[in-house]
Formats: sequence, structure tokens, C-alpha cells
Amino acid sequence: SSVRRSTAKAAATTTRRRVATATTSEYKVAVLGAAGGIGQSLSLLLKMNPMIAQLNLYDIQGTPGVAADLSHTNTQTKVTGYAGADSLADALKGCDLVIIPAGVPRKPGMTRDDLFEINAGIVKTLCEAVAANCPGALVNIISNPVNSTVPIAAEVFKKAGTYDPKKVFGVTTLDVVRSNTFVAEAKGLDVNDVDIPVVGGHAGITILPLLSQSYPATKFDADELEAMTVRIQNAGTEVVEAKAGAGSATLSMAYAAARMAEACLRGLSGEADVYECSYVASSVTELPFFATKVRLGPGGAEEVLPVGDLTEYEKGWLEKLIPELKGSIDKGIAFANK
Ligand code: NAD
Ligand code: LMR
Repeated sequence: SSVRRSTAKAAATTTRRRVATATTSEYKVAVLGAAGGIGQSLSLLLKMNPMIAQLNLYDIQGTPGVAADLSHTNTQTKVTGYAGADSLADALKGCDLVIIPAGVPRKPGMTRDDLFEINAGIVKTLCEAVAANCPGALVNIISNPVNSTVPIAAEVFKKAGTYDPKKVFGVTTLDVVRSNTFVAEAKGLDVNDVDIPVVGGHAGITILPLLSQSYPATKFDADELEAMTVRIQNAGTEVVEAKAGAGSATLSMAYAAARMAEACLRGLSGEADVYECSYVASSVTELPFFATKVRLGPGGAEEVLPVGDLTEYEKGWLEKLIPELKGSIDKGIAFANK
């Protein structure tokens, strides 16, 4: 519970910490897909992060405009736009952290796996460039289906001889952000104090919120527990349907990705007790990738925490999700090696 407490506290004190660390601007961060719905909002939030000295915005189009616009905000972060594949290498050189929201989003009626055909190739190409130009960088992968794109990234880095399993992260922070919001609303709690670990993967039933491990401790009756679990699993679809063809979550995703990026940078800087849930290389289950809470440090994911004590209800979901997640992992690995 000290881990849970420190995560909730860290999230709650981010604003104050920003003031305290306002002079330690040292990191170079690239956003690949920076002109998109997530990319633009995320770039704005990163431009406001005092830990970031240089922000490189890469996309196949549109980044000169986004960078010019953002560069007028009076924060100390310098921002540079890179447009088109010819500029990708320059966008990546010297980066400490690369965040990848490039790719197509869902429309109503689609699963995240329906995006595989387009996004798998995009992530593969971008990761090949990461291996060639900033092989030591931490990589945060947002592009869906995350359950498959993270294994693809790992295979690309293995082939290039640059793979460090501690440095590749599937961004599942939005599942935690949503869980914290929904549980705080349902239980009348201060949302800044709530921390719910979410494990498994990032699609439908592979998203497993561990409501029994909530901080602070909460009680749900059986119907409430089922409704809350299913709402968290379907929260992405809730947004896809509300946007009615105009895409999926962008603003809440940008918020979540900025939180994950800040946690990665705080870890790199040597700060202690930095934890986030993330989909990483893992030996917690029989699967090679799995999301649990990880401790972030100078080397990336320094420690991958176990799932902890599960209720019978949660064990039931875990059993169900393993075969689906395995299928998505195998599909990613097969794609990268074909
Ligand atoms: P979007 O269409 O608004 O933006 C995507 C951007 O990627 C566009 O600007 C496009 O030009 C760019 N792009 C396409 N191919 C590229 C390439 N080869 N190199 C660089 N950039 C390229 O989409 P969005 O709403 O920002 O969503 C992006 C991705 O994030 C989708 O796959 C979506 O499913 C995923 N997503 C993940 C989560 C999560 O929790 N992990 C949450 C929300 C969305
Ligand atoms: C989300 O959870 O919002 C994202 O994965 C986007 C989607 O397709 O739902």
C-alpha cells in the first residue's frame, strides 16, 4: 500500500513539484505523430513540463505549423517541427524519451485490433528509426493495438541489437486515469487521492482494473463491481461512440501520456518511488508482455511489480484475458518477423 499511496501522492503533487524542479530542464523528448489529435494536445502539455529542454515534433505532415504555434508559448522548452520521413532521423537524434501516438484511430464498430493492418507497419518503421538514431531512449507506445504494437517494437529492437526490455512501454495510463476518475465519482472521494492499479493489456477484456486494491480502500457490491469493471474496459469505446466517427480519446489520452512521460523523466532523473502501471516485458504471468505497476528509474522500468492479491472475481477475468492477450502478442511478433 505504500506503493499505491506514493503513486496517488505523486500524481496529486505534480503541480507543486513542477514549481520545485523548474530549473532542472535537461531532457530531449520526441513525439512521433505530433500533428494528430493526441499529438497536438500532448505536445502542449509537454511544452509546459520544466524537465523538458527540447521537444521535437515529428509527423508526416503538419508539424511546422504545430511547432510554430507552440513555440510562442512562454515556457522554457524549445520546440522544433520535423515533417516527412526524410526528417525522422534528425527528430530522433539525442532523444531521451520517444513518445509514439502515430497511426489511425478507431471509428464506431471497430475493435483496436482492426487498426493492426495500418498501425503495425507505422510502429515498425518508426521503431527502426529509433533503433538507428537514439537506441538508448525510453519509448512510450500509444498507437493501437498496444497489445500488439509493443511486441512489434520489441522484435524490431531485438533485430537491430538495441533491445532493452526496461525501455519499451505500452502506455496504459489512460486506463488508470479513467479508473481513478470513475471510482472517485462513484464513491465521493477526492480524485487526487485515488489510485487504482490496472493490469493486463489495453483492449476490452484484457483491461483488468484491480478494484480490490484501490487506494483508499473502497467497497463495491457484486453488481456495482461488475458495472464499474465493464465501464472501465469499455471506456475507450464510450468516447469512440460519443465522437461518432471523428476518432477516439485524444484529450484524456494526452493528459495520461503527459503523466506517463513525466513519470519516465522523473525516473531517469533518479527520483525515488516513481510508479506507473504500464504494459511491459514481464515475467509476472506466463505471457511475455503484461501490464502491472512498474517502478521507474534511471534505467527505465527498474522493477516490474507482481499483480498482488486478487479476489476470485479478478482471478476469473485474469483467466479469461490471458488467451486473448496471448493472441495479440503472437500476432505482433509474427508480423515483425515475417
Ligand atoms: P489522429 O489521426 O488524430 O493522429 C494520428 C497522427 O499520426 C496524424 O497526425 C498522422 O499524420 C500521424 N501519422 C500517420 N502515419 C504516420 C507515420 N508513419 N509517421 C508519423 N506520423 C504518422 O489519431 P489520434 O486520435 O491521435 O490517435 C493516434 C493513435 O493513438 C491511434 O492508433 C489510437 O488508437 C491510439 N490511442 C491509444 C490510446 C491508449 O490508451 N494507448 C488512447 C487513445 C488513442
Ligand atoms: C482508448 O482507450 O481510448 C484508446 O485505446 C482509443 C480507443 O480506440 O478506444
